[in-house]
Amino acid sequence: MWTENLLSGKRLVLGVSGGISAYKSVALLRLLQKAGADVRVIMTKNAQAFVGRVTFEAISGQPVFSEMFGELPDPEIRHISWAKDIDAVIIAPATASIIGKIANGIADDALSTFMMAVTAPRLICPAMNTHMYENRAVQRNLDILEEDGFEILEPGQGELACKTTGPGRLADPEMIVERVVGLLAVKDLAGKRLVVSAGPTRESIDPVRYISNPSSGKMGYAIAWAAALRGGDVILVSGPSILPDPGGVKVRRVVTASEMADAVIDESGTADIVIKTAAVSDYRPVDVAAHKIKKENDTIVMTLEKNMDILAELGRRKRPGQILVGFAAETRDLEKYATEKLVKKSLDMIAANIVGEVDSGFEADTNRLTLFFPDGQEKRLPMMNKFALANIIIDHTIDMIARKSDKAGHQQDF
Ligand code: CTP
Repeated sequence: MWTENLLSGKRLVLGVSGGISAYKSVALLRLLQKAGADVRVIMTKNAQAFVGRVTFEAISGQPVFSEMFGELPDPEIRHISWAKDIDAVIIAPATASIIGKIANGIADDALSTFMMAVTAPRLICPAMNTHMYENRAVQRNLDILEEDGFEILEPGQGELACKTTGPGRLADPEMIVERVVGLLAVKDLAGKRLVVSAGPTRESIDPVRYISNPSSGKMGYAIAWAAALRGGDVILVSGPSILPDPGGVKVRRVVTASEMADAVIDESGTADIVIKTAAVSDYRPVDVAAHKIKKENDTIVMTLEKNMDILAELGRRKRPGQILVGFAAETRDLEKYATEKLVKKSLDMIAANIVGEVDSGFEADTNRLTLFFPDGQEKRLPMMNKFALANIIIDHTIDMIARKSDKAGHQQDF
């Protein structure tokens, strides 16, 4: 997913302890920087047996802190000063030893002493041999850390460097960055249930052909992920898409428009916010051939019948206080068609764009959207990445919920 600029202005400390996967921390450092963070590195002595401190110093552009005493003729008390004014700490990889020390209040080197002074959010990414990870002492220490408010990012499964297979592999750097973004996100959707639809639908013609469209699902997946990071309880109903499930989101995969209708209607009953980015096939073939259609004729006539307009149906079923957002992809007359759909489908907002431009539309990472509202207002947004757009759309839904509940409260007062 998109993490570019999501940590911009954030001050982080990356703690590296001594495991084989310490080399992955170099990639992690680069990714954190790409996300806009200013990162300082603390290494344990053992970590330096795996990766040289020069590597981290060159990439972070700052000295690495690794010795409590006599490192540099520097009056700074680093374990205290580095712990001040930081937004988060990530320990990756976190070995059994550093986990044990932090859980039990042992401060006998640069990293463990620094951790004693940290008050910012702390993310621990364990990585070690499977038997070590499953050892009671390690599990007990991880439980203590969790109880003490640390975030633990469970290691991945697979074949490890030591040739055992099981849990113990350091989580992917991308996943660690996503978790840091989540750790620092404002949880303004906590307690809210969202349903997001995404991607295309497919209507079979015969066993090997279908009617569909080039929707990638990127816009809907970005909204679902952004909403989950902001603390929402998110269900993503997705048509066929090659995108991986966004973290923290419950995904229901469907193929046809009618399967999408069933899933979306089923999930929307109790939703506070429903956002329909899916590019739904408006029609389906009346007859689906049981076998592959052979090219025996010069022309073929196919009769299509209309699929349900899911969004219009949700508009009819809308509960008081529920927010319904639609999308409109048009090739011309954007304002006219978008506002018609806004009214016809009883929407609270419609996000519309012109398709067919290079940087916007179906498969691009960026889009240029205009938001239309029932009171006639419109907001033209500049070209931006779909994750940034997702957050703006979510901001509007949160505003609309607040306004609706204010209005409901006001009406009760009289
Ligand atoms: N939509 C839907 N069910 C359909 C068709 C569309 O829920 N059968 C939703 C889409 O998810 C989108 C909005 O309606 O949020 C607008 O979709 P769009 O394809 O732009 O418009 P249509 O209503 O299908 O109208 P037209 O194809 O005539 O432009």
